[in-house]
Amino acid sequence: KTVKAKVHVNFEQTIGKIEPEIYGQFIEYLGRAITGGVVDAKTNQVRKDVLEKIKRLQTPLLRFPGGTVTKIYHWQDGIGPKNLRPVRPNLIWGGEESNQFGTNEFIDYCRMLKTDPFLVVNMNTGTPEEASNWVEYCNGAGNTSFASLRKKHGYPQAHKVKYWGLGNEESAVPDTGSLQDPNKYVEIAWQYAKLMKLQDPNISLVLAGGDTKWNETLIKELHPIADYISLHYYANSKKGQPASLFAHIDTFEKEIVATKKQIHELAPEKVENFNRWYRFPARKKPLKIALDEWGIWENEGKGAYNLEVTYQWFHALGVAGFLNIFQRQADIVGMATWAQTVNVLAPIMTNEKESICQTVFYPLELYRKYCTGTSIATEVESSALEQSGAENLGILDTAASYDEDTKMLTLAVVNRHPTVAVETEIDFPVAKSLKIFEKHELTATSYTAANTLEKPSQNVVNYQHQNIDNSISSITLAPASITLLRFR
Ligand code: AHR
Repeated sequence: KTVKAKVHVNFEQTIGKIEPEIYGQFIEYLGRAITGGVVDAKTNQVRKDVLEKIKRLQTPLLRFPGGTVTKIYHWQDGIGPKNLRPVRPNLIWGGEESNQFGTNEFIDYCRMLKTDPFLVVNMNTGTPEEASNWVEYCNGAGNTSFASLRKKHGYPQAHKVKYWGLGNEESAVPDTGSLQDPNKYVEIAWQYAKLMKLQDPNISLVLAGGDTKWNETLIKELHPIADYISLHYYANSKKGQPASLFAHIDTFEKEIVATKKQIHELAPEKVENFNRWYRFPARKKPLKIALDEWGIWENEGKGAYNLEVTYQWFHALGVAGFLNIFQRQADIVGMATWAQTVNVLAPIMTNEKESICQTVFYPLELYRKYCTGTSIATEVESSALEQSGAENLGILDTAASYDEDTKMLTLAVVNRHPTVAVETEIDFPVAKSLKIFEKHELTATSYTAANTLEKPSQNVVNYQHQNIDNSISSITLAPASITLLRFR
């Protein structure tokens, strides 16, 4: 079956710069995410097979060491001679942490990936001083104690870590030890921020966001010292209703829009009474949103906390939907890190010998290559998806970007329907002379197909790249497909 649709690309209506940091990743001391994923569980050496796969994602940002684990993590356990590092119980997720992959190993890993490190500090069992010492250890260029310690550990050059998270999910339930009271968070965050920024005024701070009420207090009170407020989004589908995943993802866009409104209303650009500490300037622009944990969390997985989830093809369509949202909301989404990277809710899965790319890996890889530059507004006229759990959703989901360097306009279109092809007319109200140049298409053997370690050599995902160079204005999008159309 084929239906018709129309996509308008409003070339003159730019939304904002697509920050490269929206294509970040996250790793945590959780189950087999680091030990057994990033590094070999027996040797603690970096797994080359995993590294090569992460490289394909071209991630510009890597968040570490958590997540919830930051609530018990003390960075000094993970520095210095490896044989002297303490083995600690992982009091959050269970098991033991050998601390063999600590700060410097993480920074080395980031360098191998050509990615920026993003560290999250402990605001629960740690102290502002401990966090500030971590900034000194990483970024100190002089001869102060912690900067000298880093040099002694073999790193004469400062790591220049720019991104720092002030805690993680601090509004969350008590059993993880979160701060819970927004006023308490504000009070403590000031102490952390002051000391950390006095160590290095060039760092960017990410506030640990929560619900609307919580965010209201944080935005009002902390916007002069922070650069981002974080939101965490995990989507899932209702049992037996794959398309309900898209409806869930759709609600997040509404939350992003609501938070943007809140940021603009609550944090006027003129900052007054910035009289606490003065050796760094107050931020005078509205905060950006850091979606520093986003992903798909289905309840049926293996491993620690059932987090080793197998993703089917429709999950990959959901990932493309998330990435379309980040583009559509480019004026407020300043960064996003997919949770997580290996084995835990992850695009890459390993066993002792092998690793595979799950279905969700492929849209991540494709978007990061081409959906760059400035976000351009799109509008869709398409029929309803008509799948259970996906009421009021259209078949097509779109976003567009224009890259000044390549002079290419990229239209991303997801056909979310499992069986219906969509004959799509593409309308450029102003730039009529654009020619379609390339088509990149991802499809799979079925809506529910998955790549698994049981059959490591079988890839259910098909990727097709076609050079076209034609002024066609209509294209048929295959059922359950992710297509990037590139115009010049
Ligand atoms: O990504 C897994 C966990 O989910 C993180 O540790 C926590 O921040 C979130 O609740």
